[in-house]
Amino acid sequence: MKARILIVDDELSMREFLAILVEREGYEAVVAAHAEEALGQLDSSVFDLVISDVQMPGLNGIELLARIKAMAPDTAVLMMTAFSAAEQAVEAMKLGAYDYISKPFKVEEIKVLIRNALEKSDLKRENTVLRQTAQQRDSFCGIIGASPKMKEIFSLIRKVALSNSSVMIQGESGTGKELVARAIHDSSPRAKKAFVAVNCGAIPEQLMESELFGHKKGAFTGAVADRAGLFEQADGGTLFLDEIGELPLLMQTKLLRVLQEREFRRVGGAQVQKSDVRILTASNRDLQSQVKDGGFREDLFYRINVMQIVVPPLRERIEDIPVLVDHFFRKYGDPQQAGDIITPAALKKLMNYPFPGNIRELENIVERSLILDSSLIHEENLPLLACSDVVPCLGGDATIPAEGIELERLLDDLEKKYLLKALEMTSGAKKKAADLLGMSFRSFRYRLAKFGLDSENE
Ligand SMILES: Nc1ncnc2c1ncn2[C@@H]1O[C@H](COP(=O)(O)OP(=O)(O)OP(=O)(O)O)[C@@H](O)[C@H]1O
Ligand SMILES: [Mg+2]
Repeated sequence: MKARILIVDDELSMREFLAILVEREGYEAVVAAHAEEALGQLDSSVFDLVISDVQMPGLNGIELLARIKAMAPDTAVLMMTAFSAAEQAVEAMKLGAYDYISKPFKVEEIKVLIRNALEKSDLKRENTVLRQTAQQRDSFCGIIGASPKMKEIFSLIRKVALSNSSVMIQGESGTGKELVARAIHDSSPRAKKAFVAVNCGAIPEQLMESELFGHKKGAFTGAVADRAGLFEQADGGTLFLDEIGELPLLMQTKLLRVLQEREFRRVGGAQVQKSDVRILTASNRDLQSQVKDGGFREDLFYRINVMQIVVPPLRERIEDIPVLVDHFFRKYGDPQQAGDIITPAALKKLMNYPFPGNIRELENIVERSLILDSSLIHEENLPLLACSDVVPCLGGDATIPAEGIELERLLDDLEKKYLLKALEMTSGAKKKAADLLGMSFRSFRYRLAKFGLDSENE
């Protein structure tokens, strides 16, 4: 492809002279009579090099240079300065011009400069492309993912990172919600300030207010000194309220007020404090149904749910399993190992497994397997739960293995199975299926929608 060069000069003869010279060298020339026209061209297409005069009516060449560096940092800029205007040349170099040439110049001189500038801009562009594809490849801010669903989440994170809106991150346990929250912070303009994460389910109710908003000395027994709360610690940065569904109603009311008024008081304090925090929340419960049951304030729900990121469970993006296995192999095994890290049979077994504990479970499985054999993941070293363990029998005694279970997920799985079975038995007639399960049509339809089963069985 021909290199494209934009020539900017208010003097017609100079524009024409340079255009001819550039085209003779085998490049494509586009001309602009002033900086505003040049900016229009730069806006609508890509140039490898801009050659611009400094002295022009309107926006001068130095100002144009600054704009170009902001809008197209990979485009090289060569400035033509007036003879003896050394300070213009210095200024141009400071602002990132590739080089300058003072008028009048020799044809040979400018040819060499153009050639060198183009070479450099080529290298730069290749580098940027590499960097971008590396990012688009299989990870973003430490989140590994090769599936279209995760790529979509990466681009969503990039977008929401630029705003200050509250984002609610939803997804099953172990899907990477906290990683997503960190990625939003790390790619936002707040990245240099604090990222403060708090698990709302882990703080005793009576300490919650002081934890979030701080307290004054003597506010309650045990408050031996003034203490800043998480809102203050996160000032200028991001506050991540994990498991927001666990927040008791009274605290929901207090939090809502703070989010509305953007100010708060320490417990036992009189002084009103302000804090500039961006709020991210996560929940693995169905908050919307919690709102319906009255367990979560609707007004708070809408305030924190301005934008939503739903992280899909691993079984809905099994393309991610190979890259995740590779990632965890390098984390727990030999990071440098070349060649096979997993047998085909073992990979197949993983790809067919529903991963009720999602990525956290996969990580544990890989770690365990590498303790048994640090050089290769074998099928025998993957003691996955059998499906019959995942869905317990009805009627029999409940059994809970030592490592515990996830009751909500088990119940969901069970429910899903019965919904599908009923649809199968009634050849998809929803009314009949609802009758079979002893529930109303409405409730049946609601449950289908909840599990995303509604469209496939129309
Ligand atoms: N896409 C991913 N790439 C790499 N590691 C991941 C990914 N997703 C999750 N993990 C890892 O899995 C573990 C669980 O992730 P995380 O804590 O973010 O999940 P979570 O959705 O917040 O889970 P919970 O609801 O149980 O709090 C962490 O160790 C995390 O580093
Ligand atoms: Mg979490």
